Amino acid sequence: MPPWFALSPEKNPTPVSTKISRMTFTSIEIHFFLYSILFLSLPFHGNSQSYSEEHTILLKLKQHWSNPPSINHWTPSSSSSYSTHCDWSEITCTNGSISGLALMNKSITAGTVPPFICNLKNLITLDLQYNYLSGQFPKSLYNCSKLEYVVLSNNYFFGSIPDDVDLLSPQLRYLNLSATIFTRDIPAAIGWLPELRSLLLFQCEFHSGLIPTEIGNLSKLEVLDISYNDFIPLAMPSSFTQLKKLKQLWMRRSRLIGEIPKSIGNLTALEVLDLSSNDLSGNIPSGLFLLKNLTTLYLYKNHLSGAIPKSVEASKMENLSSFVEEFWLLEYVGFHRVGHCVEFD
Ligand SMILES: *[C@@H]1O[C@H](CO)[C@@H](O)[C@H](O)[C@H]1NC(C)=O
Ligand SMILES: *[C@@H]1O[C@H](CO)[C@@H](O)[C@H](O)[C@H]1NC(C)=O
Ligand SMILES: *[C@@H]1O[C@H](CO)[C@@H](O)[C@H](O)[C@H]1NC(C)=O
Ligand SMILES: *[C@@H]1O[C@H](CO)[C@@H](O)[C@H](O)[C@H]1NC(C)=O
Ligand SMILES: *[C@@H]1O[C@H](CO)[C@@H](O)[C@H](O)[C@H]1NC(C)=O
Ligand SMILES: *[C@@H]1O[C@H](CO)[C@@H](O)[C@H](O)[C@H]1NC(C)=O
Repeated sequence: MPPWFALSPEKNPTPVSTKISRMTFTSIEIHFFLYSILFLSLPFHGNSQSYSEEHTILLKLKQHWSNPPSINHWTPSSSSSYSTHCDWSEITCTNGSISGLALMNKSITAGTVPPFICNLKNLITLDLQYNYLSGQFPKSLYNCSKLEYVVLSNNYFFGSIPDDVDLLSPQLRYLNLSATIFTRDIPAAIGWLPELRSLLLFQCEFHSGLIPTEIGNLSKLEVLDISYNDFIPLAMPSSFTQLKKLKQLWMRRSRLIGEIPKSIGNLTALEVLDLSSNDLSGNIPSGLFLLKNLTTLYLYKNHLSGAIPKSVEASKMENLSSFVEEFWLLEYVGFHRVGHCVEFD
């Protein structure tokens, strides 16, 4: 329901309806009536924006993207087949104001993310994945002060992730820039987004870039995926093992060398670890096999050696069976199957 209907009759104080039923209005009474409407509607104006203002921004977006057929139904509200934009499947409204834009795979072939998108003052989620958007990283999103969820993955953005990327909303919880063409380094500033829960940068094209140790400062991080990037060959930053909340760590084919940090056993929340297709050597730290929540482990295509620690054999059958699937992968690097894994072949 658009906000101009927000002043529902049952919310009006009785004096106003009494006046209406009397059907006689003095000029003072009319003023009182108008002021009370103004007063009553104030709370709705606090953080919100007028419906027609937001509607205009959507139509401007559609035009900016050269009217993709997938959003043909974004029509002016004056058109005969009237529907409110809050009913359109791409739009989420909260309290009558636009809080989400979901434009995944809409064949948006022309253009960029325009700065005026942040004129939607209450925008919290923005999903533009699987389109053909290009241009530099859209710094204009720094002006969307409420953003929590940003997905720009699978587009043709180029250049680099800017050094001041921490100017994105401090509430940002989810950032997916995977499968884009951001080259060079991942900036240290990525570690200065304090609320980040998920950081997905797989298959960007960080040729000869560094993995910033500052990622280890993201104390609320739960999912990190930096797989399939051609980083400078270096060991996994040991700062990553400070990530107490981390549940998934994906670093497949990211040119890791050296040993797996002994402190990997500090990642007590870890459920999935993928370090496959790197140049890791040395033993697998025994702490890894003590992680109670770990269910999926990919270590194949490395140069790891040694035996699977006794602790695995000692672990609960339930845990063990969840490891089984992965153990055959370890065989490729010289591990012997243990316990229930024997049943595997
Ligand atoms: C929506 O309105 C309610 C009641 O005024 C308020 O408590 C809530 O915080 C608002 N939500 C947002 C996201 O603005
Ligand atoms: C995108 O949409 C097309 C058809 O409109 C569909 O075939 C394709 O699978 C979709 N891709 C994704 C990633 O959703
Ligand atoms: C944010 O908006 C202001 C006012 O429109 C503009 O001057 C500024 O350049 C914008 N910032 C970015 C990073 O685009
Ligand atoms: C991140 O974006 C990619 C590409 O659009 C998508 O395949 C993937 O599912 C997203 N990751 C998550 C965890 O949502
Ligand atoms: C972030 O991490 C870096 C390197 O790991 C460290 O030197 C720095 O002190 C940390 N900053 C904060 C604010 O924790
Ligand atoms: C992490 O692990 C190392 C070595 O395994 C240990 O010395 C250190 O105290 C641990 N740190 C935390 C914060 O648990």
